[in-house]
Amino acid sequence: MRDIGIGLIGSGYIGKTHAIAYNAHGSVFGGKAKLACRTLAEIDETRAEEAANALGFENSTSDWRSLLADDAIDVIAIATPNALHKDMTIAAIEAGKHVYVEKPLALDTAEANQIIAALEARTDPEQPLVHMLGYNYLCNPIISTIKAMIDAGELGEIIHFRGRHNEDYMANPDVPFNWRCSKASAGTGTLGDMGSHIISMAMHLVGPIASLCGDTDIVVPKRPDETGAPRAVENEDQAQAIVRFASGTMGALETSRVALGKKQGLAFEIVGTKASLEFDQERMNEVRLYEGSGAPGRSGFKTILVDTSCPDFAAFCPAPGHGLGYNDLKIIEVDRLLKAITEGARVPVDLYAGREIERVIDTWVLSAQERRWIDVGRL
Ligand code: NAI
Repeated sequence: MRDIGIGLIGSGYIGKTHAIAYNAHGSVFGGKAKLACRTLAEIDETRAEEAANALGFENSTSDWRSLLADDAIDVIAIATPNALHKDMTIAAIEAGKHVYVEKPLALDTAEANQIIAALEARTDPEQPLVHMLGYNYLCNPIISTIKAMIDAGELGEIIHFRGRHNEDYMANPDVPFNWRCSKASAGTGTLGDMGSHIISMAMHLVGPIASLCGDTDIVVPKRPDETGAPRAVENEDQAQAIVRFASGTMGALETSRVALGKKQGLAFEIVGTKASLEFDQERMNEVRLYEGSGAPGRSGFKTILVDTSCPDFAAFCPAPGHGLGYNDLKIIEVDRLLKAITEGARVPVDLYAGREIERVIDTWVLSAQERRWIDVGRL
């Protein structure tokens, strides 16, 4: 089997995480299929060359479109600001490349629909294209353990999901205006940036979200631009919603980029009729479980550490409780991509699921504007 060639576009925060994962994948997961870091595309030649050297790519370019015609590249990985995802994803699909695009899929549902239309126009049963989004938190081995518990009915019927993804990276009003504050570059604010992660987690564990009543808020209305002059922030700093899942389960979601003290605050609580559990990404190797069957005076939450019963964890380490880190989630995600290409396995979040997340976000924004409950299916 020949190596699977990667063309990576963007080498910022998440592009570097991609590169670490491509380079480390073989050491962790082994296997016959190998990934090859072919070409890195960046905004200019100097940046592209420096990043390619640092991140282990064979070639560099300032023209991402040159990746499309390169036969040595099988996968286009898109790690650029949100506004570029649509055109890059469609171009990759039209070139017949597998596509691995960072979250959120696009600026909104309308753009996501254009991507799906391109995919369906290109779909060839003889040569299926793998498409996957970078919702890496779903690849955490302890999340796989939680999902297995839910699927086996160990929590009983799930009656409530409360989830948040809060961080404080923009809590300081002096943090300059950047692409994440711009509607043209990012679309929504914290909703697309981190809200999309907790929405993906809620949907992964409890199923589709049927309706919601949302609210959004800009806390820091102006931030200094590159000259120091105040510039109006164009999208929300924090947002919350009450939701109903298609299963009938009640839920509450929130997201913030100005939640002082929260560094990686993706967390959730699930209440079941037999057991309840709590997870916090800041303690990403453990889950806290309360079983309703406990004897009076002997009941309480217990902490379960990730162990080798989860194959994704065992691939890293033979001893239980030796924690993984954020970058390891990307290595596991890349393994999902590789297995989808070589074995036809399912990916955690494909373009269709990515569009569903866009629908939830757009419904949330509309609900906040109109101050009422809205069915997600309406968009
Ligand atoms: P960033 O600003 O750190 O990096 C973006 C990179 O894209 C920059 O190096 C920039 O020069 C490059 N770029 C921009 N236009 C380009 C073009 N036309 N051709 C080639 N390169 C170009 O941004 P960051 O934080 O890496 O975010 C990128 C994407 O990744 C976003 O969609 C974001 O939502 C997502 N992301 C996902 C995370 C996750 O946990 N899965 C975490 C952080 C970001």
